[in-house]
Amino acid sequence: MFRNYRLLAAVHSGAGTAKRYIRAVNQNSKQGDVEVRSAGRLAVPIPAGLRLTPRKSSALTDLLNVMAQGESIAMEGARLQATIAPTRESRKFLRVQARHERFHARIFETAGRWISGGTVRPTAMPRELLCWQSQTRDAVRANDFPTSVLIQQVFLEGLGHILLQDLERGIMQHGVNRLAGVRRLILSQEAEHHHFGIKMVEQARQKEPAITRRLLALSAGLFEQAHELLATFHEPFEILEVERGDYLAALRATIPAWLHETH
Ligand SMILES: [Fe+2]
Ligand SMILES: [Fe+2]
Repeated sequence: MFRNYRLLAAVHSGAGTAKRYIRAVNQNSKQGDVEVRSAGRLAVPIPAGLRLTPRKSSALTDLLNVMAQGESIAMEGARLQATIAPTRESRKFLRVQARHERFHARIFETAGRWISGGTVRPTAMPRELLCWQSQTRDAVRANDFPTSVLIQQVFLEGLGHILLQDLERGIMQHGVNRLAGVRRLILSQEAEHHHFGIKMVEQARQKEPAITRRLLALSAGLFEQAHELLATFHEPFEILEVERGDYLAALRATIPAWLHETH
């Protein structure tokens, strides 16, 4: 509980504190156990003042919970990928990414709990996320790094980054403006992870041109799953009165043409 207060303090205090928080997590984390020593003086109670009806509060909590689920999958994925990545540099990047994702998951979990008034409101994990999780596990088991990257950093991260931008507007619209600094930080980290993924699949293609066909076929399925996954966000965004963008078009725009020539 106390740890959550500290985390909320980090959220409320903006990007500078979030960076210190991440640094503390990086320094103090041991086998998944997070301890935050440097945020002690920042412990504050949860502030009131949200302008949310119960229906909006539930919708926002569901959105935050699904984001937290996506972050947990990204965390597990990056940890697993670090065991099969081809270079020291990429393994290091993935280990750092896993720490980022753990931080993101905790931020969303805590924000969800905060918005629902301190109670845990369970949200079912979308089928597509479960599917991406098991596809990633299979790819790592098969030592297939490019496939794992396509699922995780290219699609999951790409989509997460796009959705976060609208979620940010939804949150701001409802008066939770103190989250802005941390959200900006998360957005920039997601963009970094996505760029890493694009770089990795491009490199894999240069090294082995025959991989193009296989990844293209795989991305056709991933685009369909992304479409289904996005549908689960329609209702909550509608309740929150957030105008939705064309997410699939935005995702396509960030992915190299050779991965979606037929879509
Ligand atoms: Fe993340
Ligand atoms: Fe990420």
